[in-house]
Amino acid sequence: MTDYADLVQADRVHSAIFTDEGIYQAELANIFHRYWVYVAHESEIPETGDYCTKWIGDKQVIVSRGADGEIGVFLNRCRHRGAAVCMEEYGNASFFRCPYHGWTYNTAGDLVGVPYPSRYGPEFNRATLGLARVPRVGSVAGFLFASLADDGPSLDEHLGQAAAYLTDFVRASPRGSVSLSAGTSKSVFWGNWKFVGMDGYHTNFTHKTVLDLRQRKAGPGFQRGAGNSDRSPNESWDLGNGHCRLDLTRRDKVGIGVASNVAIAAGIPDNEAGREYFRLMTEAYGEDVPETIRRSRDVHIHIWPNLQLIGSQVRVVRPLAAGRTEVLCYPAMLDGVPDEINTERIRSFEWFGGVASFGTPDDVEIFERNQLGLRADRIPWLVLGRGLDVQPRADGALVGNVTDEVPQRAQLGTWLRAMSSGPVPAGPVPAGSGEPRAGGDTAPDLAAAQANGVSR
Ligand code: FES
Ligand SMILES: [Fe+2]
Repeated sequence: MTDYADLVQADRVHSAIFTDEGIYQAELANIFHRYWVYVAHESEIPETGDYCTKWIGDKQVIVSRGADGEIGVFLNRCRHRGAAVCMEEYGNASFFRCPYHGWTYNTAGDLVGVPYPSRYGPEFNRATLGLARVPRVGSVAGFLFASLADDGPSLDEHLGQAAAYLTDFVRASPRGSVSLSAGTSKSVFWGNWKFVGMDGYHTNFTHKTVLDLRQRKAGPGFQRGAGNSDRSPNESWDLGNGHCRLDLTRRDKVGIGVASNVAIAAGIPDNEAGREYFRLMTEAYGEDVPETIRRSRDVHIHIWPNLQLIGSQVRVVRPLAAGRTEVLCYPAMLDGVPDEINTERIRSFEWFGGVASFGTPDDVEIFERNQLGLRADRIPWLVLGRGLDVQPRADGALVGNVTDEVPQRAQLGTWLRAMSSGPVPAGPVPAGSGEPRAGGDTAPDLAAAQANGVSR
């Protein structure tokens, strides 16, 4: 049995957690097939009979809106001999008919048709042969989560403080709802899924091109990189249970001057559509509209393990192998606003978040270089000690400078707990309370780990 605490220590982690296929398989079992994971947004299947296929770890699921409007999540596996019954990414159907021998299921997962049934004996009972239902499904602000574990902490307990940011995100709409209806931008890269984290330290280096462009646009008044330095009032937050966020708005509040990444990417146009949007928001939320809009557009959060909300963008992380990951990005359209407002959101998404944008390709490039570098593992430790001395505040939040490795430690602390524990730990885990144990100076005995089933 691998002692994961040897690999994830207080201020450093062993590169095997990013490269080792045995550990990756254990992650599927201990994290993705057990914890709450994000599967879909309800707006992807708005009508009765709508469905989409998604993933929980390496298991494909059908998310279906049945005849009664209820959403069910089913494993995409025929109960006869196991063929996937649905191969479309999106669609509308009354039935799912398995292509192998024609067994047919309705949108509630019930087996409603079996060809030539007379050759089955009296014990054959269609009622027990419906599609396997994912046992726990829950949603917050239309974001649908599922857990393959029969029991464990509730979705509310899992999300904890992070749930408020899901609500903030959809309050950019005067109706309080968003639609993932503008398509999906997909990228697959040769790197580990955990690289897609929340990192306020990399911006001024990885995204140099973005800064160059902004500087050119803004002119000499531009304070290049001011928001992502150790002197910035911007913050990194550990929200507990592996959830973390960056607050990139602080320097605006203290008057440093240049709007944050997110604010630039999601600015409201100064035109008729912008004024109409403002009016609709005022009607919906009262007088404190600038604050509501600011909060909705400044969301920059990772909901562990696989969902990120960044500005106007929903980003989903899908692990494929220790060194292979798919990231699916959706620009979230606001319900009930002038078209120009959503057009602007798509433009800002294309600018930074799309596969051919100025931002995402640089992130993907660095993730692949990261995986490449980790193979050269003579000294296998990664240093994650920035801001290690940050103490929880009186309200329990652990908040560091934006460049601190608070988010990385938040995620890996929960990773360690998930990988090491038997049942899913009951109840919420407060921010900063799951510090991995302090390690010594010696590398763990990976030969022993290999002998116990961890391959290299
Ligand atoms: S495997 Fe589906 S009908 Fe046979
Ligand atoms: Fe980035």
